[in-house]
Amino acid sequence: MTAPRAPRIPQRLGTPLSPSATRVLLLGSGELGKELVIAFQRLGVEVIAVDRYPDAPGHQVAHHAHVIDMTDREAILDLVERYRPHFVVPEIEAIATDALVEVERRGLAEVIPTARATVLTMNREGIRRLADEELGLPTSPYAFADSVDELEAAARQIGFPCVVKPVMSSSGKGQSVVKRPEDIPTAWDTAITGGRVSGERVIVEGFVDFDYEITLLTVRAVDPATGKLTTHFCAPIGHVQDRGDYVESWQPQPMDPDALGAATSVAARIVTALGDGGLGGRGIFGVEMFVKGGDVYFSEVSPRPHDTGMVTMATQRLSEFEMHARAILGLPVDVTLASPGASAVIFGRLDEPGIAFENVADALAVPESDIRLFGKPESYARRRMGVALATADDVETARERAKEAAGRVTPVSGRPRRPDPAPRSDPAPRPDPDATTYLPSNGRSQAERSSGEGRQESAT
Ligand SMILES: Nc1ncnc2c1ncn2[C@@H]1O[C@H](COP(=O)(O)OP(=O)(O)OP(=O)(O)O)[C@@H](O)[C@H]1O
Ligand SMILES: [Mg+2]
Repeated sequence: MTAPRAPRIPQRLGTPLSPSATRVLLLGSGELGKELVIAFQRLGVEVIAVDRYPDAPGHQVAHHAHVIDMTDREAILDLVERYRPHFVVPEIEAIATDALVEVERRGLAEVIPTARATVLTMNREGIRRLADEELGLPTSPYAFADSVDELEAAARQIGFPCVVKPVMSSSGKGQSVVKRPEDIPTAWDTAITGGRVSGERVIVEGFVDFDYEITLLTVRAVDPATGKLTTHFCAPIGHVQDRGDYVESWQPQPMDPDALGAATSVAARIVTALGDGGLGGRGIFGVEMFVKGGDVYFSEVSPRPHDTGMVTMATQRLSEFEMHARAILGLPVDVTLASPGASAVIFGRLDEPGIAFENVADALAVPESDIRLFGKPESYARRRMGVALATADDVETARERAKEAAGRVTPVSGRPRRPDPAPRSDPAPRPDPDATTYLPSNGRSQAERSSGEGRQESAT
C-alpha cells in the first residue's frame, strides 16, 4: 500500500478569490461552522461553506455556499476537485468519511484533523475501542449488541441502570437509560430507529452517576519555536445536557487537582492518538468526560469545535473557533482564560420558518452579556437558534446572567401580524444561480446553487 501523500501546510496566507488564495472547504455550516468561517475570514482565508440545506448559518458569511448531501461521497469529491482547497474541514459527524479518506489518499487536500479521526469518531465503536483497548483510558463498562437478545445479555452483563445508544448518532438521538430488564425492547427500538444510518448495532454502557461532566477543549497546534505539534488544554468547561442537547455551559468548571490531572492526561492521549504522528492531526478537539470524586471517565471526543465550547466566545482570549482556524493554518494558539463565563441556549420554541426575536435589548441589558442569533432559516421548538453569553467575576453569577439573557430573548412568529395591504410579488432578490459568490454589501449572502448536473443541490 502506498503511503498517503501529505500535503504541506501553506507557508503564507493568500488573498481570497485570487490565485494566491488559501482555501478551506467546510463540511457542515451550522452555528459552529458559521463562527469558524468568521474566524477564517478574519485571516483572509477563502471559505467554501457546505451544508445540506440552503442559507445555513455558515453559508451566510462564506465566500461560496453549496448545498449537497454530505453523505454522498461523489458530491464531496466533486467539490474538492472543483475548488482544490488546501484544507477540508469537517464540521459535523454525518459525512461520507470514505470521501475524506480518498482526499487524503490522493493528497488532494489536508483533512482536518485526519481522515482516520473522522472515521473513528463518527462511530461509537471505533472511538471506544481505541480509547479502551488500545489506549487503556478509563471508560464506563460497555458492550455491543446486534439484536434485542444480544442487548438483553449485554445489559445483564453490564448491570442496571445502563445507557443504550445507536453506534452512529449524535445529539442524544436514539439514546435511552435502561433501569430494568423489562425496558430493553423499548430501548432497542428507540436505538435502531434513532440512529443516523439504518444499521442495527448498539452500544450499551454502564450508567455513570457522575458528579459533573466536562468538555476539555484540547488543541493540537504547531509550536513555532520547534516546528512540532504541541498539545494545549483550555480550562475545563462544565455543562448541563437535557435529552442529549446541551442547554448551559460554563468555564472554568472547578475541579480537584487530581481529577484535573487525570482529565488532562486522558485528553492528551486520545487527541495524540487521533493524529498521524507527524504534523497531521492539528485542530481543536472537544474531549467529553464524566467526573465522580477523583475518578474521570472518558466518554467521547469531537475532532472539531464543541457546542458547549461556544462559551469561549466570551471567556477566552481566543475562542475555540479562532484556535481551530489558527491550528489548521499551522499558526500558534493561546488558551488564556480572560474571565469566568457561561453560555445558555436560546431555543426556537416555535415551529415555523423565518421567525423573529423580540426583547433583544432587554436581554443585552443583563450586565456583561452578549448574544448570537444564528440566522437559521427554520425554527422548531427544540432547535438551537441562538446562544446567550455572559461573563462575571465568578461562574455562578455568569451562569445566572447567561440564563437570564437567554430567557429574555423571545422568539415570535415571523409572519406579518396583519395581512399586508400590498404584498410584494417578489419578496426578495434571489441570487443568480451561476454567479460566483461574494458577500454583497447589503449583507445578504448569495448562496451558490451551482452547476453540477446530477448532483444533489438546492434547486432554488
Ligand atoms: N454512560 C453514561 N452514563 C451517564 N450519563 C451518560 C452516559 N452516556 C451519556 N450520558 C449522558 O448523555 C449525554 C449525551 O451522551 P453522548 O455524548 O454519548 O451522546 P451524543 O449523542 O454523542 O451527544 P452529543 O452529540 O450531543 O455529544 C452525555 O453528555 C451525558 O449527560
Ligand atoms: Mg456527547
